[in-house]
Amino acid sequence: MSSVLTDEKIPNNVNLSSDRRLQRALEAWQPRFLDWWREMGPEGFQLKDVYLRTAVSVEPNGWAHFDYVKMPDYRWGIFLEPKEDGRTHGFGDLYGQPVWDEVPGEFRNMLRRLIVTQGDTEPASVEQQRHLGRTAPSLYDLRNLFQVNVEEGRHLWAMVYLLQTYFGRDGREEAEELLTRRSGDHDRPRILGAFNEPTSHWLSFFMFTMFTDRDGKYQLSALSESGFDPLARTCRFMLTEEAHHMFVGETGVGRIVRRACELMKQDPNEDVRAQGGIDLPTIQKYLNLWYTLSLDLFGGEVSSNAADAFASGLKGRHKEDRYQDHVCLDATHRIELLEDGKVIEKEVALRTALNEILRDEYVKDCQRGVDRWNKSIEEAGFRFALTLPSRRFHRQIGMWSDACFTPDGAPLTGEEWERRKGEWLPNDADEVYVKSLMQPVHERGKIANWIAPPAKGINALPQDFEYVKL
Ligand SMILES: [Fe+2]
Ligand SMILES: [Fe+2]
Repeated sequence: MSSVLTDEKIPNNVNLSSDRRLQRALEAWQPRFLDWWREMGPEGFQLKDVYLRTAVSVEPNGWAHFDYVKMPDYRWGIFLEPKEDGRTHGFGDLYGQPVWDEVPGEFRNMLRRLIVTQGDTEPASVEQQRHLGRTAPSLYDLRNLFQVNVEEGRHLWAMVYLLQTYFGRDGREEAEELLTRRSGDHDRPRILGAFNEPTSHWLSFFMFTMFTDRDGKYQLSALSESGFDPLARTCRFMLTEEAHHMFVGETGVGRIVRRACELMKQDPNEDVRAQGGIDLPTIQKYLNLWYTLSLDLFGGEVSSNAADAFASGLKGRHKEDRYQDHVCLDATHRIELLEDGKVIEKEVALRTALNEILRDEYVKDCQRGVDRWNKSIEEAGFRFALTLPSRRFHRQIGMWSDACFTPDGAPLTGEEWERRKGEWLPNDADEVYVKSLMQPVHERGKIANWIAPPAKGINALPQDFEYVKL
């Protein structure tokens, strides 16, 4: 493993200084990235010292360094997991053949599209979250927000490294484009839907990091199986950081749930809103929203693109080695389909069902988190369970988007949907109410009324540590 040169302009473990052309290209992109960060990164806190984790290597026991840093001085680096000698394609038509260290010409466009689509989500989420610092419920949460933001910035670096290294001129152009699209912008939107939705308060932020970052986990996991070895190695390391983002989401929602239960006990009518908290039915609505927006990110149920990416060895399945058959040429998979307005089950070619198969894994993972939230409601003595809605509900991508369904998956007319959607998804009044709670708590060790304190601090530090020096 090449050691990490932390005194370099761009920290890396890819021996960047040995490739002058690439080094110059990345050093030319760096100031453009910083301009973007200053313009679109966290608003209002750029000059503050934040207690952040920085990736300094890929060693399992020492990859992260914790210290105070001003965000624009964060050392965004390039880190790939070590190369595995003799690695072979783990799936697809080229199963068993040596993996690629260079871009395979015949799959160049498909590969570039996969990298750009992944890369685009990283700066998008920073843009979506840029105003949240002003209303943070505690210094601990403020720090976690910024931690997620700087790491999404590093994930952009990870994808730009691949584009600049392996795709020549169009790679450089794509790297520029990644800095010019803007989340929610009418003319230059980000590529994927969920990354153009506003994340306008902390309940949405925690739902986003629970559900949308978790989509990221599954996409990265599928790409970490790739036969394009540099992509696989990059994604494997990104997953290490991603785990913390989902931790922020799951524990964030979990703390709001816990607080809701405490406030129910304090109120004679169990009225959480009367006590200034976020009630469980409102939490359910935001869960419905962000979970379904995130389900869309997996793409259509039956997809020739997914089949092509698998056949060519570019994108595999989550934990491909758990499967017996890695070629799946004649295999079929049973999925639910909407045909002539009716829900039916049908066998389809497995390769075309890979989006749905990845989505299945994702749904199971989400359910585990929801179960943990429900356990805390039960322990508090209340009979209420949060649920993941049917995957037919509120879809905007794929075949379910052609019709309307209740959260239980029962069909309903467009008219009924319009009349009832405010029961299931946040309505204007919910949004106004949740936003009204978002008053900043920036005092050391203090916490907003609508959320419980964390179980423990960051990096074994106490909860009342000065995570951000304001
Ligand atoms: Fe990311
Ligand atoms: Fe993330």
